[in-house]
Amino acid sequence: MTTLSDRLHEVIAPVIAYDSQIEIVEGDGSWVTDVDGKRYLDFACGIAVTNLGHRPPTLEAAAQEQLSRLWHAGGSFLFESRADAAEKIIDVAPDSIDQIFFMNSGAEAVEASVKLAKKTSGRQGVIVFRGGFHGRTMGSVSFTTSRSKYRSGYHPILPSVFVAPFPHPYRWGMSQEDANAYALNELRLMFKHEVMPNEIAAFLFEPLQGEGGYYPASREFMQAIRDLADEHGILMIVDEVQTGFGRTGEFFTSQIYGIDPDILVMGKAIANGLPLSAIGASREIFAKWEPGSHGSTFGGNPVSCAAAAAGVDELKKVIPGVAQRSDLAFTRFGDLQEKHPTIGDVRGLGLMIGVELVKQNREPDSEAFAVLSAQAQKDGLFILGCGPDNNVIRFVPPLNISLDDLEMGIDILDNALSVYEA
Ligand SMILES: Cc1ncc(COP(=O)(O)O)c(C=O)c1O
Repeated sequence: MTTLSDRLHEVIAPVIAYDSQIEIVEGDGSWVTDVDGKRYLDFACGIAVTNLGHRPPTLEAAAQEQLSRLWHAGGSFLFESRADAAEKIIDVAPDSIDQIFFMNSGAEAVEASVKLAKKTSGRQGVIVFRGGFHGRTMGSVSFTTSRSKYRSGYHPILPSVFVAPFPHPYRWGMSQEDANAYALNELRLMFKHEVMPNEIAAFLFEPLQGEGGYYPASREFMQAIRDLADEHGILMIVDEVQTGFGRTGEFFTSQIYGIDPDILVMGKAIANGLPLSAIGASREIFAKWEPGSHGSTFGGNPVSCAAAAAGVDELKKVIPGVAQRSDLAFTRFGDLQEKHPTIGDVRGLGLMIGVELVKQNREPDSEAFAVLSAQAQKDGLFILGCGPDNNVIRFVPPLNISLDDLEMGIDILDNALSVYEA
């Protein structure tokens, strides 16, 4: 009998690296159901996309209502849901954001942010941070340094992209303070030896590195980058594609750190799974981007915008509950760390938590993640990994997950760790 897996392997390019072979037919809240009726608790949210769970009713209703009237308008016509979504997002975004430009994917938004920075500053250089993930298109992969595999075979990539260290205290065996000081000193040395700050258009920065291993930047490091940006007239692009829309406990992580980005990059959870991304900036910055010098056919489509507008309203109700869920998760993972030597570090913000799996000598334990993930799937839990060695559990459950489901999933991980360590 031909299985779905056979069919997909026949007609879909093998470049997709599937995280599981589970055939799902439905998603509902924190759960997905496979063809045999088995249910899985979804601790991955399609990589931090379905922040409100699968098919949240108010977003579904808003999208369906829009679907029944208008699907596409591009730049040809004016339509209301685009204004609704932009107004609502600006209302909850950092104070520095006055306007929005919509697109379809995170990578596209990252590229647009850099184009905007170059165009408005007249400078060419970009400084990114090692371990950052900013997408896979030809431009965005030039800014991505979370794994060399993502760049392998694609050189030459964009020139004048400079890579500075991002503080990874656990991996470096340092305190956060020492790691910050080391990374900042390296950045200053970069200005001395490699590129003058007045040739740099932008810092491109994740406030909590995602794909790279779930490392929070820390308020101090982010502030230091902001200060350097101000000192040298460099724009600060904050990539909140993964950290945005409530994931870390506020609408945006920049707000937790009290930093105003010059350009904010948004994607993933912006419409809870319908394709949409955006950049936000001040009126002054956008004013320098003359009409027609950038564009997108599908960007900001009516249906995704309707879902995004409804999503902001829903997130306003859900985000206040993130702290309780986050505290519970950190407490439980802290207990698991004491019980299981495989857990080396637990870090993150809100409901974006990395649980790093290591061998006795602190070396990354990639095998542990593979075993845990397989055992968890057997027991009805779906998890994803991250980090260059895929040894960090990326804990990104829905922001509105019930406390019982949260505990149940962590119990499954506890058991999986015991199986691995036995
Ligand atoms: C921080 C960050 N930026 C950009 C991207 C690229 O987004 P997309 O896959 O929608 O192109 C991602 C995707 O994981 C991301 O995590």
